[in-house]
Amino acid sequence: MSNPSLLILPGDGIGPEVMAEVRKIIEWFGDRRDLKFDVTEDLVGGCSYDVHGVPLTDEVMNKAQSVDAVLLGAVGGPKYDGLDFSVKPERGLLRLRKEMDLFANLRPAQCFDALADFSSLKREVVAGLDIMIVRELTSGIYFGEPRGIITEGNERVGINTQRYTESEIDRVARSAFELARKRDGRVCSMEKANVMESGILWREVVQRVHDADYPDIELSHMYADNGGMQLVRNPKQFDVIVTDNLFGDLLSDVAAMLTGSLGMLPSASLGAPMENGRPKALYEPVHGSAPDIAGQGKANPIACILSFAMALRYSFDRGDEATRLEKAVEQVLADGVRTADLMQTEGGRAASTAEMGDAIIAALEGSL
Ligand code: IPM
Ligand code: MG
Repeated sequence: MSNPSLLILPGDGIGPEVMAEVRKIIEWFGDRRDLKFDVTEDLVGGCSYDVHGVPLTDEVMNKAQSVDAVLLGAVGGPKYDGLDFSVKPERGLLRLRKEMDLFANLRPAQCFDALADFSSLKREVVAGLDIMIVRELTSGIYFGEPRGIITEGNERVGINTQRYTESEIDRVARSAFELARKRDGRVCSMEKANVMESGILWREVVQRVHDADYPDIELSHMYADNGGMQLVRNPKQFDVIVTDNLFGDLLSDVAAMLTGSLGMLPSASLGAPMENGRPKALYEPVHGSAPDIAGQGKANPIACILSFAMALRYSFDRGDEATRLEKAVEQVLADGVRTADLMQTEGGRAASTAEMGDAIIAALEGSL
């Protein structure tokens, strides 16, 4: 049998530097755990625009459709701010999500013990935190029609449409309930049913799926604004949160800071199973391209490395090796290795991106 295939799209900004560390980790698993992947690399985002005039070529789109999993770094940067909307770097990422139909975006927010003091919240509020945000990723206001900027009388009007079908809500709710079954058995669904019809339908369908097929799960509903407040007031009350595309974008950034740094958070975007039984999948860190520190070897590669751990778990059914990698990261943090984003005060020397990667490899070696 051939090795599972991985398409790596480092993208822009700090994407290439953090992905270089992931490639070392992938090689380690091939050499030391006999877990080999066929890796190819290509362009997405601004770097694709620079070469091809589009943020994602059809060729790369087709490749993404045919591999077992895609690993993406980050897209975007100020250099591309002036571009026409249709060719902005972000459009490349959104096209991948949409055409691969990656409807369930899993964003775990875990607070490693060694980092509990780095959160802007008090240690006791975040220590031991382990929540999972399931964000709907292929619909809602990100893709709804009509959209655009039109002229009405003597002024312009910006239009976007929030739109959800019952089946779109149904399938992402199921993903959340299935995950909750493997965790603490609780799901909180967030919308704005008090002001949005799409929120009323969202609440109704999530409840219906629950009552029909997941009565063993404890389901609650919350308005998304309250959800944001509860996330910073008492985040440990949550297990799985399921929410729409835009609220999920906001709430997952909030949840990220609970853990100390945006540089720590991985994500998995999953679609329907392919012929080989594996889900369509793209893994990427939640952080962006961080153009202010790009190319300086300062970026924290952990979010991207933990995204590869999620690939091991969700695409390749190797939860054991995923745990090995997560434990290696935990150990390195416990040993006090810190990239600049994890340094609270001046003083002490920050580890470079590559030093962090090497420390994680050393911890992996130690795990054998
Ligand atoms: C995210 C990002 C993206 C989004 C951008 C880069 C298009 O913020 O993955 O959270 O808005 O979905
Ligand atoms: Mg975001």
